Formats: sequence, C-alpha cells, structure tokens
Amino acid sequence: MAVLDLGVKPSSEGSSDAGSRRLSPAAARGLVYDAAVKAETDHLYEIVRHVISPLEWPAYAPLIAAINRLKKERDAVILAHNYMTAEIFNCVGDFRGDSLGLAREAAKVSAKVIVQGGVHFMAETSKILSPDKTVLIPSLKAGCSLAASITGADVRLIKARYPGLPVVTYVNTTAEVKAESDICCTSSNAIQVVETIAKEWGVDQVIMLPDEYLAKNVAAQTGIKIISWKGKCEVHERFTADDIAEIRASHPGAIILAHPECPPEVVAASDFTGSTGAMSDYVEDYKPQKVVLITECSMSDNVAVANPDVEFIKPCNLCPHMKVITLEAIYDALKEMRYEVEVDPDIAARAKQAVDAMLAIPPAPAGKFDPTRHVPDSLELI
Ligand code: 13P
Ligand code: SF4
Repeated sequence: MAVLDLGVKPSSEGSSDAGSRRLSPAAARGLVYDAAVKAETDHLYEIVRHVISPLEWPAYAPLIAAINRLKKERDAVILAHNYMTAEIFNCVGDFRGDSLGLAREAAKVSAKVIVQGGVHFMAETSKILSPDKTVLIPSLKAGCSLAASITGADVRLIKARYPGLPVVTYVNTTAEVKAESDICCTSSNAIQVVETIAKEWGVDQVIMLPDEYLAKNVAAQTGIKIISWKGKCEVHERFTADDIAEIRASHPGAIILAHPECPPEVVAASDFTGSTGAMSDYVEDYKPQKVVLITECSMSDNVAVANPDVEFIKPCNLCPHMKVITLEAIYDALKEMRYEVEVDPDIAARAKQAVDAMLAIPPAPAGKFDPTRHVPDSLELI
C-alpha cells in the first residue's frame, strides 16, 4: 500500500481547538448563535429542516454565517461533493455534485480561491485544472483508500508489462498517477471513456486503474477486456449481496441504487447503478416512493433535501476521509488560508492532459450503466 503524499504545505492542524476542548466548535472560535446570526441563516435552515433538527441548528448556524462572510472577503468558492454533510453541502457549498461535475466547475471557476469540500485527490484535480488559483483542503487527513492503493511507479511497471495498451485512471488517484495515464475517468463516465479510448487506439483491451470493482462492473457492460489493480473503496467494498437481500425482504417495493465502486454482486442485485450524481438524478427524475442509496451516508440526506416526499431507507457506510471535512475545518481553512494544495508543475502538466482528455468527451446516455445489459466480463488483476 502506497503512503499517501498529501502534497501540502506544513501545518498545525487542529491548533484552533487547543485549550478549548469543552466548548462547541463554534464557541471555541468566538462564534455565537445570536439574533443577527439567526436572521442571516434562517433561510438556510428552511432548506435543511427535513434532515437537521432545530436543536442541532444553533451549533451550525454561527459557523455557516461566518464561512459565508469569509468566502466574500477571500473571493472564495466551496466545491461540495455529494458526500459532504447536509449543513456543508446545502448551506456553504457554492457548487455541488459528483467528482466529474466538480472537476468541470474547477476548470471554469472565476474566484481566486477554491476550498475543496471533498478529499485530497479532488483538491489536486482542482489545482491541476486551475493552476493559478489558491486551492485549499480543510483537513490534511482527507485521503482515500483508492488513491492510496497505487503509485506512479506502479503504473510505470504496469505500462512496461502491457505495452501498446491505453491507461485509464480513475480520478480517485494522486496527480502522480494521473500523470502516467492517457485519460482519466469518473464513475459517471467510466463506460464511455473505456469504449472511446479502445476505439481510438483500435484495441480490445484497456488498462483501468486502480478500482477492481469499478473495472469489473465496466467490463460487464462493455465486453472490453480490462486489466486492473486490487484497489478498493473502503466504503463501498463493505456492502454485500446479503445486505441487498435483507433490504428487499424488510422494505418491499424499495428501489435500490448502488454506486459502481460496490462489488459486482451488489450491483447485480440492485435496480440501478451510477455515480453519486446519477443516483441523485434518478431520484429527481423518477421520484420513487421508497429508495435506498447503497453508498456513503451523507448522500441520502442531501438527496432527501431536494426530494422531501421520497422515503429514504438508510443503510450506509461512512467515509472517514470525507467526514474530516467539517464546518469548523472549512472555517479554519478560510480564516488561516490553509492547507494550500501544491502539485509539481511537470506532474500537473502531464496529469492535466489526462484530465482534459476526459473532459473533452461529451456526456452521452450510452455511457450510463444499463441494468438490462450484462455481457460476460473479462478482467485480469495485476
Ligand atoms: P462520484 O461522485 O464520482 O460518484 O465518486 C464517488 C466517490 O467515491 C468519491 O470519492
Ligand atoms: Fe475514497 Fe471511497 Fe471515501 Fe470516495 S468514499 S473518498 S472512494 S474511500
């Protein structure tokens, strides 16, 4: 397992709480819930009232008000991934979405500062796409088990072993790994990217790194042979086909949506498979009476905010990396302008080619996971 190179400037993470351990995060920062904060944030509470209780709100509101003021002072925007908690996603996020959507926003953002409401590989992608901006990650602990599973040196060895094959890397990788690849993909365009690159290169095999399950799920949709790696998402690998059977037995009629980082047998047992953005669109478009999102815990709350009439059954797994991004960490990041993400310019330039190649592929319905399609898959694991 590779050691995660966070690529950030030295820090004193958590120092704001020193000596104030008994205070709430807001109070420890001298922020209180008073009439002014209430007036400033009441309209935001209306948005999240289905998922945040009135008792919790006074703890969040002072930080939310302070963050929204700091964003203006710093000319900053917050890119909020679907796995951010509801108070972050809905009350301080400026752009919200899945990994692909956030990368597209990062490429065109006009503010001087980007605060990544997500994990480190996402912040690196933002820096690669917007090298002139200051990109901040609110916690140095926001890693990812997939990004930590493979290094640039591993990819160089794989390329030497399979010369002449295109390398597709999942965006959930370090800049160093992206720099070794021909094109990136996310869970929302993986099928399309694999089909496009195989056609362009005139090959029937593709190297796709590092997620074993995503690779197998894509192979089962495309029939293209995929050479992959034993990386796994520590959140999605824990779901099992038995979990799905239990949910079906205890919640008859519930529609089950799974993320493609889940094991193939979980995907096969579900009704629909797609990125976090695709799951959100599914609920928006079809408004199922009861739905289960087989993914990270915050996702259901965020989709529920926009769909209050849908019943969400919530078996879920927490991503410990996403959950270190809290309101107080975002407040500290904007206040102290920390932790700035840097990417070596040579690596960034090479990685940008792979990310740009992905962004150049227009979204197409054909790229979606099709529950009626299942071809015999061919997967080789290194
Ligand atoms: P998407 O938002 O692209 O579906 O990615 C999910 C994920 O695991 C991000 O860490
Ligand atoms: Fe990585 Fe999985 Fe967490 Fe996403 S949910 S950041 S893939 S560990």
